[in-house]
Formats: sequence, C-alpha cells, structure tokens
Amino acid sequence: MPHTRLIATLAFSDGTPSVELPIIKGTMGPDVIDVRKLHGQTGRFTYDPGFMSTASCSSAITYIDGDKGELLYRGYPIEQLAVHADYLETCYLLLHGELPTVAQKQAFVDIVTHHTMVHEQMQMFFRGFRRDAHPMAVLTGSVGALSAFYHDSLNIHDPRHRDISATRMIAKLPTLVAMAHRYTQGLPFVYPRNDLSYSANFMHMMFSEEGKPYQVNDVLVRALDRILILHADHEQNASTSTVRLAGSSGANPFACIAAGIACLWGPAHGGANEAALNMLEAIGTPDKIPEFIRQVKDKNSGVKLMGFGHRVYKNYDPRAKLMRETCHEVLEELGLHDEPVFKLAMQLEKIALEDEYFVSRKLYPNVDFYSGIVQRALGIPTPMFTSIFAMARAVGWIAQWNEMISEPDQKIGRPRQLFMGPLPRDCATD
Ligand code: CMC
Repeated sequence: MPHTRLIATLAFSDGTPSVELPIIKGTMGPDVIDVRKLHGQTGRFTYDPGFMSTASCSSAITYIDGDKGELLYRGYPIEQLAVHADYLETCYLLLHGELPTVAQKQAFVDIVTHHTMVHEQMQMFFRGFRRDAHPMAVLTGSVGALSAFYHDSLNIHDPRHRDISATRMIAKLPTLVAMAHRYTQGLPFVYPRNDLSYSANFMHMMFSEEGKPYQVNDVLVRALDRILILHADHEQNASTSTVRLAGSSGANPFACIAAGIACLWGPAHGGANEAALNMLEAIGTPDKIPEFIRQVKDKNSGVKLMGFGHRVYKNYDPRAKLMRETCHEVLEELGLHDEPVFKLAMQLEKIALEDEYFVSRKLYPNVDFYSGIVQRALGIPTPMFTSIFAMARAVGWIAQWNEMISEPDQKIGRPRQLFMGPLPRDCATD
C-alpha cells in the first residue's frame, strides 16, 4: 500500500464524535479515503451500491482515466501495445509486469503453444451439453470443469502452481472456445496446431474443414489479435471483481474464472457485442433507425443503444478508436463495406454521434460496438462473440487473481448491507 499523507475528518450531525480517516495516494488517479476502520470506530458502514465511489482493492496492473480516455496496461498506453505488441506479449506484460525480452517471449510462446491441447476426456464432457446450448453456458461449465482435470496444480499458495494454472488458462481457453463453437454447429473438433501463432491457431480450430484447412490471412489474424489485446484487462470491472471475490475465499483459479465468465455474459458487460449485433439485425434497414432512436430515448421502453456508453469512459473509449480502425481494415480486406448490416452500423454510429441525447450524456460507441462488427466480418457467429471476449480477458482475470492471492494481508471479500426488511417478529404459535 502506498503511504498515507492526508487525513479526512468525518463529522456527524447527531453528536457522534468525528473521526479521522487516512487518505491514500496511488501513483496516479484519485486518492482514496481508507474507511477500513470506520465501522470499528463509529458502528457505521459506507453505502455504495454499484461501487460508484469505492476502490475495492489496490492494484498495479491496469490504469484507466475515464475523462481522458486513457487505458494503460502496466503503464503502457493501449495505443502503443495495439501497434507494437502481440497478444502473447501483452499477456506476459499483464502477468509479469514487464514486456518480455526476446528470450522470455520465445519461452512464453513455447510453453503456451505446448499447453493448447485439452484432456481428451473433455470431449465426453462437452457431449453432455445440448447442441443448441449458448456457447457461454458451455464455456462456463467447461472452464469450471478444468479444475477436475488439472487438480495437480491447485495449491493457490504455491506461486509455481499459480503460474502453471495461468499458462493452462491462456493456452486452453482458445481450444475450449473453438470446441464450444464446433459443438453447437455439430462439427468435429479440430486439434490445435503448434506451428501457428496464438490467433492463427484459434482461427484454424474455428474454421478448418475436412480437406480444406484454414488459410491464414494476416489482416484477419492481426484483427483477432487486436481484439484480444484490447480486451485483455480492464481494471476492476464486474467480471474481474467477480473473479477476485470468488478467489478471496481460496477457491481454485478455474472455478474463479468460470465465475468471471458467467458474469461477463450479461448484456451490460461482455454480452454487449452480441447484443449490439442482434440490435442491428432487429433494426433491419436504415429507414427504421429514427424509430429505433426514438425508442432508445423513451425511458419507459427499456431499449438501449447497445455498444454505446460506459461506466468509466465519459469522453471516448480508447479501445473503440482502435477497434474502429481495425473494423475498416477488415471490411476493406474482405470487400464488405457495402454489406447491409455493416452499412447500417455505420449509419447508426453517425446518427447517434450527432444526436443531442447521446452527446449531452457523453454516450460514445464503446469497444463492443465495433468488435461485434469485426467478429461478424471474420465469420464468427454472433452467439460466439462474448466467448471471444472471455478468451481475451482470461489473462486479465488470472493476473488480477494472482495479484490478490500474493498479497500478504489478503482477506475474504465480505461486503455488508443496509437492511430494509422487517423488524424481528415471532412465528404464530397456534
Ligand atoms: N443507450 C441509451 N441510453 C443510455 C445508454 C445506452 N446505451 N447508456 C446510458 N444511457 C443513458 C442512461 O439512461 C442515463 O440517462 P439519464 O441520465 O437520462 O437517466 C445516462 O445515459 C447515464 O447512464 P448510466 O446508466 O448512469 O450509466 P452507467 O455507467 O450506469 O452504465 C453502461 C454504463 C455501459 C452499463 C450503459 O451505458 C449501457 O447499458 N450501455 C449499453 C451496454 C454496453 O454497450 N455495454 C458494454 C460496455 S463496454 C464493454 C465492457 O467493458 O463490458
């Protein structure tokens, strides 16, 4: 913990003596008021549903400045990583705190590449799912099941075991995601290829057909790699907080990541890329955009413009800017600019960016508006989009989990509540 310099004095209007609370300065970003002793000193809790003003932990991994639209992994701007690093270098950075040297990168790529296979019995596990199951349901179950297959490295207090679990997670997630896709399509599973890069291998496992292996296209592979880099970590978002909370009880990493995947699935979080594409399909044609925008503005309709808005980024989402660039590269490469769904997306983007409702609320396209479009262009079915996000975020989750477990004073997460239910009462005795 960085050291304390300032003190906040909290005064009460009911005669309770005031208390002094330490203020902790981070290396960047807002100071935090340390309220850990508040309950002991006053018998009161703080109240912050949705964590609007609460720092749930201290972390040295990812930094976001929502007003500036800044995202840093271990101090490196996302704009630089997206251009100068690949996904596995980004993983190494998030896990180890530094970009790898050439030798370190080679060793890391080698170990990840040689752990991409999953236990053959995993296939039997998959066959227990219905073919029409949502891939995120299959992924939640299969990642949770990894702890039943790889229980030789589940001592969370052993850094070596944590390292092995991290490698397994990063290496096996693409294999499981591709298996989930092929299973729901009724297609045979495809084994990983060790001669391909991380992202090219994923495309191979997704798209290879009997007698027609996937032909690597560098523009498309790079686009997928960029999706993975941009989604690799994002500070204490809902799924990462879920992973940390699950892990705080000492649960194994596969169980914790499965919990994170379950949380990510929600449409307000990682499910937004799928929801954005479904929204475009529901709108259908450009002439329906005005009526759709009218519904979005009507608070009673419950309709939101999916892929717009963000809890933290209130000026722009720096990931969206990079993803937009990639989106146009991919549409250009595949000659898809004139496809109706992509044209509709661009028209909707333009209208929303000029509309007073969105401008006044600082609602801009987020990364998922464009990542859905890119994934659709890559040939990834819409229900798979959030699984790709999960595959990318696995490294962030495991890095954050590892950071938490390594803390000497790590405690189980146990928030309190404001109780608004009935007062004590007795059961009827007659
Ligand atoms: N469409 C229409 N109105 C919106 C939207 C939207 N997408 N997002 C926010 N608003 C309105 C909201 O109704 C509120 O209006 P008012 O002030 O009149 O009541 C105002 O903007 C402020 O919004 P908020 O609900 O206070 O914002 P929040 O920080 O609680 O919610 C959000 C953030 C991401 C959940 C929300 O913007 C949203 O649901 N967006 C659509 C889903 C989406 O794209 N999610 C992906 C986020 S990026 C990927 C990730 O990190 O998971």
